[in-house]
Amino acid sequence: MNAQPVTEKILVTGADGQLGQALVPVLRARGYEVITPTYQELDLTVLDQIRDKIVSLRPAWVVNCAAYTQVDEAESEPELSYRINRDAVGQLAQALGSYGGRLLQLSTDYVFDGHHYQPYREDDQASPLSVYGRSKWEGEELARAYRPDTIIVRTAWLYGIAGRNFVKTILRLACERQHLRVVDDQLGTPTCTASLSHALADLLDQALAGTYHYTDEGVASWYDLAVATVEEGRRAGFPVKAQRIEPVPTQAFPRPAPRPAFSLLSKAKIRSLLSFTIPHWRESLTTMLRDLKRCDSC
Ligand SMILES: NC(=O)c1ccc[n+]([C@@H]2O[C@H](COP(=O)([O-])OP(=O)(O)OC[C@H]3O[C@@H](n4cnc5c(N)ncnc54)[C@H](OP(=O)(O)O)[C@@H]3O)[C@@H](O)[C@H]2O)c1
Repeated sequence: MNAQPVTEKILVTGADGQLGQALVPVLRARGYEVITPTYQELDLTVLDQIRDKIVSLRPAWVVNCAAYTQVDEAESEPELSYRINRDAVGQLAQALGSYGGRLLQLSTDYVFDGHHYQPYREDDQASPLSVYGRSKWEGEELARAYRPDTIIVRTAWLYGIAGRNFVKTILRLACERQHLRVVDDQLGTPTCTASLSHALADLLDQALAGTYHYTDEGVASWYDLAVATVEEGRRAGFPVKAQRIEPVPTQAFPRPAPRPAFSLLSKAKIRSLLSFTIPHWRESLTTMLRDLKRCDSC
């Protein structure tokens, strides 16, 4: 058996998710050999099979885009959330450590409690409010413990052409209804999976290690994002009906999982490592909606 990992072979978990679908073509375009086991081929709930699968495939990197991402459902299914977001991450890190493979683990702004007034830095104290946030934080901790050279990338408010996300939901509702109500007292940065994918590829290209924050530039509430989605969606040619978007407080939509009220992530550490200028969220949104319309019309 080979003692070294196969150079430049990257295994992407969750390749059918919204980030995975954006990332895989970016990595292939940069010349990586990318393997994308299906959920059935690498089910992260089956912990005792993870090691054998990883060791038999021997990727140089695993980019772990798979996760239990249903934030509200996690409150009533904590065991499943911890199994996928914490225990499976530990298994991946241990398996990779057995032959010198590396892990890039995706994490989230939900590891913070949102009580800050300035963008969170990578070394700020984690203090998750929800089961999802805690399970992702403990996953980070296991990855760092078993594989100290893990790259951890925390991101936030993801949307993209593929998969389910807030932007696509608002666009659909705006094409069906005249009036929408959207929360305006949570702040963060909408982040397109397209720009995040290039940031991840840049970190892989440089084989860096450590924790990094990446989001697009700027700040918005969910209400701001909804308004922009409706405006840019209409401009892109979607049959938008919505005439009124009403800002409402978080309490108007009670949810099982508390959300951080302030989710901005500082990009000071990552900025100089990137091969591109981080786009403003509104610019990314405009591009994404135009591309979505083009796909829609194909
Ligand atoms: N979405 C956000 O706003 C956001 C914000 C911050 C951080 N993140 C992090 O970014 C990463 C990517 O998120 P995303 O939005 O792309 O998530 P996503 O669209 O929900 O994709 C997650 C993927 O993981 C797969 N998966 C779930 N359980 C699995 C299992 N047991 N075994 C194998 N695969 C499994 C899912 O398959 P099925 O679809 O078949 O279940 C899906 O393909 C995650 O680590 C997430 O925590 C996301």
